[in-house]
Amino acid sequence: MRIETVPTTPIAGQKPGTSGLRKKTRVFMKRHYLENFVASIFAGIGGVRGRTLVLGGDGRYFAKEAAQVILRMMAAHGVARAIVGAGGLLSTPAASNLIRQRAADGGIILSASHNPGGPDADFGVKFNAANGGPAPESVTDAIFAATREIEEYRIVVAEDADLSAPGEHRLGDMVVEVVDPVADYADLMETLFDFDALRALIGGGFRVRFDAMHAVTGPYAREILENRLGAPEGTVVNGTPREDFGGGHPDPNPVWARELMDTMLAEDAPDFGAASDGDGDRNMILGRGVYVGPSDSLAVLTANAHLAPGYADGLAGAARSMPTSRAVDRVAAAKGIDCYETPTGWKFFGNLLDAGRVTICGEESAGTGSDHVREKDGLWAVLLWLNVLAVRERSVAEIMEEHWARYGRNWYSRHDYEGVDAESAEGLMRALRARLPDLPGETVAGRTVEAADEFSYHDPVDGSTSSGQGIRIVLGGGGRIVLRLSGTGTEGATLRVYLEDLQEEGPFGGDPQDALAGMIAAAEGLAGIREATGRDAPDVAT
Ligand code: G6P
Ligand code: ZN
Repeated sequence: MRIETVPTTPIAGQKPGTSGLRKKTRVFMKRHYLENFVASIFAGIGGVRGRTLVLGGDGRYFAKEAAQVILRMMAAHGVARAIVGAGGLLSTPAASNLIRQRAADGGIILSASHNPGGPDADFGVKFNAANGGPAPESVTDAIFAATREIEEYRIVVAEDADLSAPGEHRLGDMVVEVVDPVADYADLMETLFDFDALRALIGGGFRVRFDAMHAVTGPYAREILENRLGAPEGTVVNGTPREDFGGGHPDPNPVWARELMDTMLAEDAPDFGAASDGDGDRNMILGRGVYVGPSDSLAVLTANAHLAPGYADGLAGAARSMPTSRAVDRVAAAKGIDCYETPTGWKFFGNLLDAGRVTICGEESAGTGSDHVREKDGLWAVLLWLNVLAVRERSVAEIMEEHWARYGRNWYSRHDYEGVDAESAEGLMRALRARLPDLPGETVAGRTVEAADEFSYHDPVDGSTSSGQGIRIVLGGGGRIVLRLSGTGTEGATLRVYLEDLQEEGPFGGDPQDALAGMIAAAEGLAGIREATGRDAPDVAT
């Protein structure tokens, strides 16, 4: 085996964001760009000699080439065993599971999640630690530090490894173990959910539609829903992973999953609809004629998880990211379990899950998951919903009505202003930050400001502090406005405005944008969004 030592110099801007390093694909394709970052991951985690690492991703454009480069670098840096999903595929939750099941030292996932794929779209690389979760900030900081000092990397000169089917190969001294990307994950799901009950539900004529959005969950959903649970062929649509996700955004929300929305809101809609994103960690849940927002979904699953075998003993606690609605807090309070508020980003749940403080977690950004892995998990959410529906024998719409009747409804919407000039967006945040101390007691759009601050998180497990995690303004009557800048964009700034308001008595129907009109006006009054963004309305309202 010939190892080449390649001299290189630091490349600016290789700072991992909310979820790894995400850049335009062409940036990643530049000379040394991928190699520098991968070598910095190796350095940042203290070297990889003798270690076992998992490798896979959502199959987007450039992933095949990147996987071969990474394998050759792993071999050259002394990795003992690389466990790779066949075809280079592994959904993010499946990768998390594999790292845990095989007691690997970590894993590299090639994905830019829900961002589009292709030569002119996005690519990403993230490192997950030995617990299966996204690297904590201490590790991403060390990786970033390494990107600023790198002088060389090593790579073996070799033919491409054959990743087409399960089997073992050698690359230099390293074993490349190619595994079925789906099997272990599907087996894990069978331990958590009552597959007999799900089979009976589906066999009884309950109709499901799952939109894989041309992304990685296609093979997983086909195996679980169609093969193991007996749903008719065609239940899974857009089920073949494509490098460009069919030209769309593999982002399961009402805007990008329009086709599924239309199907579920039509007269002859199936009973249950769901979609997942590029790498399979996000989910969207729908019933006939009803869309369940991520924050509500988290609350409903927290209230009902005990109905599934994997959670029959109850939940240790729940956690949500700060901008996620407080609907789950009401459920946790009623159940007498702890509810944690963490910064945006799944990695912040890791310590709470590892310490056994929480069992279920969720984010407004369409992520829900539990302690079964250390990532959010799209298909898991789908199966838990189906398990709840099977036990309760209610429609999704009925479940929602009953939930709101019991806990009240936390109306919720997120307004995104995309590709905003970074300086203007930061200016808006700066100006608002400066006003925070004076806001309590003020009246905005008819509501009194009860509290206003910039969120700082104190991790109760490791004692670390993460500051500057978004501005939150709490208004009387259960209203809340949160503003933060996205940490996952690849161009300009994305301003996110999260709006929430509480209604305690029914009827609960209606359009969230109408129900939140007061909050929308208050947000404009407080932050001057129109002027700073130059937009009359958000680009996306979910
Ligand atoms: C990724 C992370 C999520 C996080 C989301 C926020 O998807 O995995 O945990 O909620 O990014 O993205 P944003 O663009 O709002 O920073
Ligand atoms: Zn994702």
